[in-house]
Amino acid sequence: MLVFQTQNALQIELKKAQNQSKKIGFVPTMGALHRGHLSLLEQSISENEITVLSIFVNPTQFNNAEDLKKYPRTLEKDIALVQELNKNILIYAPTVTDIYKGNTISRSFDYDGLEHQMEGKHRPGHFDGVGTIVKKLFEIVEPTHAYFGEKDFQQLQIVKKLVVKHKIPVNVIPCEIYREPSGLAMSSRNERLSDNARNESKLIYKILLEAKDKFMLKSAKEVTEFVVREFKKHKNFTLEYFEIAEEETLLSCKRKTKNKKYRGFIAVFIEDIRLIDNISLK
Ligand code: PAF
Repeated sequence: MLVFQTQNALQIELKKAQNQSKKIGFVPTMGALHRGHLSLLEQSISENEITVLSIFVNPTQFNNAEDLKKYPRTLEKDIALVQELNKNILIYAPTVTDIYKGNTISRSFDYDGLEHQMEGKHRPGHFDGVGTIVKKLFEIVEPTHAYFGEKDFQQLQIVKKLVVKHKIPVNVIPCEIYREPSGLAMSSRNERLSDNARNESKLIYKILLEAKDKFMLKSAKEVTEFVVREFKKHKNFTLEYFEIAEEETLLSCKRKTKNKKYRGFIAVFIEDIRLIDNISLK
């Protein structure tokens, strides 16, 4: 397993693979790796000859300085985990300077409105930061396939749009949400939860499952009201939003339409830690 800190060094290694037309799989992460990330890596390993994992806490996608400061950074542990999984993975763990060359700002992207929904409303500038880093990473790695978890479903749709709009030759592969046995969606942010909060956070998936059941018979508005009521009963949680939206456009569901796919999306705070999750309502 090789760890690269600069794009030049990584690209020298990747050139060899590109010259032999090898398939390159890419798993971009911000580190603090968990089972969910490892499942993305496993899928990439099984579908490509080379797998690149990037570990980079991207400053431009954080709209909150405190959140950036507190984001878990566990590079040595991450490297050890990857080594256990597979010794052929190339890890790219750059510095901010290697990526941004002293100009740590994001450019602005138009994702045909996807960026104005949910996370976009609550985290201004977030998807400009995501687009900036993902585009840069795609240009550095030139992957055949890139793997993104559905936990960040809006990010996944944004990346698909970025690739189409900027004609980037990569297949974006969605990967199902990986959950802890309690149902809590795996996230690097779970690392910051106390044992008690981690245990209580299983409520999020429980309510999402109930919402899914209710959506068979009830309207989006009624289901949303149900979710809001449920979280009001649990004082340790602060619900930021629950929204039922159509999968492709991410527009809020006003009236159910046959043949459209809907998802319930949630963002909730516990112990000042912001967790997101979503569920298919098919
Ligand atoms: O999902 C993430 O961890 C990040 O948003 C990504 C895609 C690695 C970009 O920094």
